[in-house]
Amino acid sequence: MLRFSNALEAVHKSWLSFQTMTTKMMSLVLLVLIGVTHSLDNGLARTPPMGWMSWQRFRCNIDCKDDKYNCISEDLYMEMADHLVSDGYRDLGYEYVNIDDCWAAKQRDSDGKLRADPERFPSGIKKLADYVHSKGLKLGIYGDFGTLTCGGYPGSKFYEELDAQTFADWGVDSLKLDGCYSTIDDYAIGYPLMEFWLNKTGRPILYSCSWPAYVVFSHKIPDYAAIAKSCNIWRNYGDIQDSWGSVTDIIRFYGNDSGNFSSFAGPGNFNDPDMIIVGDYGLSFDQQQVQMALWAIMASPLLMSNDLRIIRAESKAILQNKMAISINQDPLGIQGKRVYMVKTYGPNLRKNNKFEIWTRPLKDSRFAIAAVYYGTGGGPTRQMTSLGKIGLTNQNGYTLTDVFTGQPAGKYSLNTTLTLRPNPSGVLFFLAVPQ
Ligand SMILES: *[C@@H]1O[C@H](CO)[C@@H](O)[C@H](O)[C@H]1NC(C)=O
Ligand SMILES: *[C@@H]1O[C@H](CO)[C@@H](O)[C@H](O)[C@H]1NC(C)=O
Ligand SMILES: *[C@@H]1O[C@H](CO)[C@@H](O)[C@H](O)[C@H]1NC(C)=O
Repeated sequence: MLRFSNALEAVHKSWLSFQTMTTKMMSLVLLVLIGVTHSLDNGLARTPPMGWMSWQRFRCNIDCKDDKYNCISEDLYMEMADHLVSDGYRDLGYEYVNIDDCWAAKQRDSDGKLRADPERFPSGIKKLADYVHSKGLKLGIYGDFGTLTCGGYPGSKFYEELDAQTFADWGVDSLKLDGCYSTIDDYAIGYPLMEFWLNKTGRPILYSCSWPAYVVFSHKIPDYAAIAKSCNIWRNYGDIQDSWGSVTDIIRFYGNDSGNFSSFAGPGNFNDPDMIIVGDYGLSFDQQQVQMALWAIMASPLLMSNDLRIIRAESKAILQNKMAISINQDPLGIQGKRVYMVKTYGPNLRKNNKFEIWTRPLKDSRFAIAAVYYGTGGGPTRQMTSLGKIGLTNQNGYTLTDVFTGQPAGKYSLNTTLTLRPNPSGVLFFLAVPQ
């Protein structure tokens, strides 16, 4: 370990002092080191992290003069922390309060340290962390591996050690490191380097990397093995937007599973398809159920980005569905897969009216099953299959429970016909327990 540390520090020094050295050569040095000695072992994200994150809903709204209620400020995070506790989310596992971009002052302080915007975060991040901790919650922060964050705030390139220590000193529990203002060749050095310095602080900090997303944007398959060695969770596709189109695009990317990224999920490491938008504006009730069901099946972080102060009861019920949460949090940490896909021909004869079945193996030989229908013509589709056909194996069959209603949904042997009638842009979501 010591030899490795010295070697990595040497790489860090050359990173600082030979900025002209080609990054490709340095990647080679680092990859060799990582390949031989390193694997991420910080004890965190044994199951997908759950909590709240500001980006999708509140973006980079820094106008606290005219829009105090919605701007990125310490008040916003404190209010969300209050609601996580008072409305029962914390006790169901939603524990992270994650700051996203636009929290920082545009300039580092005279010691080169990051600091929060003094107008919007007058008490500073340390005080905010203390407040969040006093509520039994954890605080996450946002940084960027490049020279600037995506929103134009100071990035961590060439400041990795100082920034890691600053976050640890503040009592931060999670870091999302974005990848704007950098180049694709640098990621394989920069992300592991930040993990190295986070580890050296001695404070367990959950590490979320946007690294593979930028590789996918360049139409390449990320090196997921290397990513899983440095990161607890990683974004590997575009930012979620408040729309059904965005949710289905992400689901299809996860269904395609290019590079077999699902196989890198497990306790300590999870793919991150981005925030939960249940309770926002863009999804119907059925579509909100689809997102919750699929994010549970995909072993995805459940980071809500909504306004907990004004959320509707029906959305809250979806987010607080205990069976869906326990599927998401299954201790085996296996990521579910799309196992069945047909093109159905609805009344409008549109070929894109797809029907899919997803399954996820769970502890005690149980399975989660989601049947999603993307149709837009008429009422529910009607599809026939059997548990055997979709890969379940218990010879005595299974007892199904409907996750969203909590009602029994029948007993099935492996080859009994299972008729599924999900609504248009809706889902049927089952827990299958072997009998
Ligand atoms: C640092 O890494 C070592 C070795 O992988 C691990 O045992 C330790 O828990 C890590 N510490 C932190 C704070 O992440
Ligand atoms: C999934 O794969 C299909 C078929 O190869 C392709 O047409 C589609 O663009 C892919 N979708 C995503 C989101 O990757
Ligand atoms: C991904 O998995 C499929 C089957 O699950 C296999 O055929 C394929 O070779 C794998 N691809 C890679 C790149 O590992």
